Amino acid sequence: MPDSITITDNRTGSSVEIPIVDGGVSADPWRKLLPGIWFSDPGFTTTALGTSAITYLDGEEGILRYRGYPIEQLAKSSTYLEVSYLLIHGELPTQEQYDQWLHDITYHTFIHENVRKRFLEGFHYDAHPMGMLVSAMGALSTFYLEAKGVDDPTVRAKQITRLIAKMPTLAAACHRFSVGMPFVYPDNSMSFVENFLSMMWKVAEPHYAADPVLTHALDVLFILHADHEQNCGTLALRTVGSAHADPYSACAAACAALYGPRHGGANEAVIKMLTEIGTIDAVPDFIKAVKEGHGRLQGFGHRVYKNYDPRATIIKNIADDVFEVTGKNPLLDIALKLEEVALSDDYFISRKLYPNVDFYSGLIYQAMGFPIEMFTVLFAIPRTTGWLSHYEELMVQDQKIYRPRQLWTGADERSYVPIDARS
Ligand code: ACO
Repeated sequence: MPDSITITDNRTGSSVEIPIVDGGVSADPWRKLLPGIWFSDPGFTTTALGTSAITYLDGEEGILRYRGYPIEQLAKSSTYLEVSYLLIHGELPTQEQYDQWLHDITYHTFIHENVRKRFLEGFHYDAHPMGMLVSAMGALSTFYLEAKGVDDPTVRAKQITRLIAKMPTLAAACHRFSVGMPFVYPDNSMSFVENFLSMMWKVAEPHYAADPVLTHALDVLFILHADHEQNCGTLALRTVGSAHADPYSACAAACAALYGPRHGGANEAVIKMLTEIGTIDAVPDFIKAVKEGHGRLQGFGHRVYKNYDPRATIIKNIADDVFEVTGKNPLLDIALKLEEVALSDDYFISRKLYPNVDFYSGLIYQAMGFPIEMFTVLFAIPRTTGWLSHYEELMVQDQKIYRPRQLWTGADERSYVPIDARS
């Protein structure tokens, strides 16, 4: 049987056979056979925007791999910075490459004083740190004017190092401002995650000593969040990047998408939901209300996963280690009950709704002391690696500018009516 599909235009009888390549069919023959007839796919549920070799995801089987390596192996044996090298460069680093990468990231963690003093401190006192982060990422493009040279791989590599390195500094700066604490400068003697925790929590002690269990847990969480194929934020990045905007502007667009509660903002929404539910006894009524269409079960469901999100499985295990240090998050029992009730309810079973990465991550962040406004910021720090991997892939592929079509359902041509003649 040929590995192809045939499309027939029933108006004319003409048809075209399109080969199936890499699991998809090209739109080019369709366009030639049916000029002016557009393929309608709101939400891009059936559209592949091109080829990619970064992250492999099989939502039916619950498989996630970065550059071919299963997420479970990377979470167990790697570090976030090694994974970021892998995602950006396509291969795991040699020792020499890794040492150089660590050095480069460590020596690009400082932000320009004007970013902090003039830009970030200009926000209103109760600004949401995620809103500040979105703006700060975009603002960085005004500090590195050479970033506009997107055709030069050396220039791109420099911005990639800068952005990955500066994200924890920006994130911590947003938090410190929002709670009225003085900014803490990066410390080159610390690891990536220790440095971030120091910038978050240091008060008057000369050297902030991060708990090793919590440092490791956050490093694993960073690995799990580093990339996720063609998600909403990555599409935003690719769209802006396809216009050849600089990587800071493209990442700011992705970060803005991540802010939404249907995307990276869901971890914040989960904690609010669990707090509102309040007790285990209230879980059945909450599930009943969701089934009747009153809101969604936050942290459940995914466009691609129709099985348990493999990241949620790993996070659930990390939660045990974290709670041993911090004490159990009192909301955990409500979350476990919600999961139990939902996974045995036909509404969720028939729609293949399972916990996603956000269902348990917020509980860990909260137990570690992060305010809930920081949860999506914690997501954005490692996801910057994923965004930049896609930016680099896009530039190397030199894809066309993204510009979809529409199906017109508006008014036919009509004549302008002066305001005093309108009814
Ligand atoms: N709670 C209750 N019902 C749900 C949920 C949910 N969390 N998610 C989907 N459904 C239902 C829908 O009501 C719909 O039911 P219907 O067929 O009777 O109309 C069906 O399941 C399909 O839902 P869609 O909205 O069409 O699925 P889509 O793929 O567009 O949405 C999304 C995916 C946005 C993640 C959705 O599941 C959701 O809103 N979940 C809650 C928010 C969340 O956790 N987001 C984080 C995702 S992971 C991430 O971005 C990092």
